[in-house]
Amino acid sequence: MKSSTLDLGPLQLATPLLLSPLAGYTNLPFRRVIRELGRIGLCTTDLVNARSLLEQNRKALKLIESCAEDTPLAVQIFGAVPEEMVAATRLLESLGVASVDVNMGCPVRKVCHVGGGSAMMTELDRTAALVRQMVESVRIPITCKMRLGWDDDNLTAPDLARALEEAGVAAIMVHGRTRQQGFDGSVNLAGIRRVVEAVDRIPVIGNGDITSPEAARIMLESTCCAGVSIGRGAFYNPWIFVHTAHYLETGELLPEPDFSERVRVMTRHLDLMVEVFGESLGCTMFRKVGPWYAKRFGPASFFNKGIVRLSSRADYDTILVRYIDWRAQFLDESGQLLPKYALRPQVLNFRDDDTQELDAPAVTRREAIPVPAGPNELW
Ligand SMILES: Cc1cc2nc3c(=O)[nH]c(=O)nc-3n(C[C@H](O)[C@H](O)[C@H](O)COP(=O)(O)O)c2cc1C
Repeated sequence: MKSSTLDLGPLQLATPLLLSPLAGYTNLPFRRVIRELGRIGLCTTDLVNARSLLEQNRKALKLIESCAEDTPLAVQIFGAVPEEMVAATRLLESLGVASVDVNMGCPVRKVCHVGGGSAMMTELDRTAALVRQMVESVRIPITCKMRLGWDDDNLTAPDLARALEEAGVAAIMVHGRTRQQGFDGSVNLAGIRRVVEAVDRIPVIGNGDITSPEAARIMLESTCCAGVSIGRGAFYNPWIFVHTAHYLETGELLPEPDFSERVRVMTRHLDLMVEVFGESLGCTMFRKVGPWYAKRFGPASFFNKGIVRLSSRADYDTILVRYIDWRAQFLDESGQLLPKYALRPQVLNFRDDDTQELDAPAVTRREAIPVPAGPNELW
């Protein structure tokens, strides 16, 4: 299989590999880290309220903050008022955004209640009419991201995808679970395939549980989707795009990055967070980022205990130096982890993830990203 390009209408992506929106995580620093590692086709922002964008709300504007290196960029918006969705789309086009993605998965009651987010999956005609207005008001591609449906009895994604194709969208992203399923059970590959079969011309992007190049290939081959979108797997392994592109082209699995490369990229991630959010907030936000890198350091409890209290850039250097000293007890003479501590290969699926240490802080445990507490739990 080839890692070819992918067209979203007029927008040609260099690879068919996309970063899924992860509210709270897919901010500018993380997107830049991913882009610097290479072979990403398209990054997407966290979801943004269309009305807040129009009101120039400070938090909403921060969510769409970007820079010259951060292209091509899709902004994901939600809302149910056609005039607002259209005006927000126009605004984003004028700001140079490459495409606009419509969220059809948000479970928050106040969003669904007015017909936005995942409620859009249940009202095909109204949703298609709204999206058509967006498509007709701009030149950039409009895409839609959905789940397979509300629950197993209402697998509306194929019908909705067809209606949205008619309305002129450039692609459909589909997470292979229902809204009711949350993150339980496995991704329904046959369900994604039915969405692929339901549309005539536009690409369908498969999404859900991809944590390795092999899992991406399985998704592509078993659903015939045109590309894959990776969310949590990119946080678990920021190298996943470059490794997957290489694997799809050559069949070869590149070796995992070594400890020093992981530390280099993690440090770059922190520096970008400090640049974008300022030192205090950047360091606080980094408390939930560092432990994800540490998952592949080998024994890391010492590092995690320090990093979850991080408050300054200088602290980070101290924590890292002390951790490197502490970690030496687990290494052989050549600096490799002793066999007893050697890492297992990265997992195909989150349910196989046994890399966590029992005494690890809460943010490092697998639930921290896969099933976040609060209203996001059914993303
Ligand atoms: C913490 C978190 C935040 C998410 N935020 C969004 C979001 O803002 N918009 C959206 O469409 N999906 C969101 N999702 C869903 C993901 O984009 C994706 O569809 C889902 O996690 C399955 O893909 P994955 O297994 O590759 O993570 C979120 C998921 C998580 C875990």
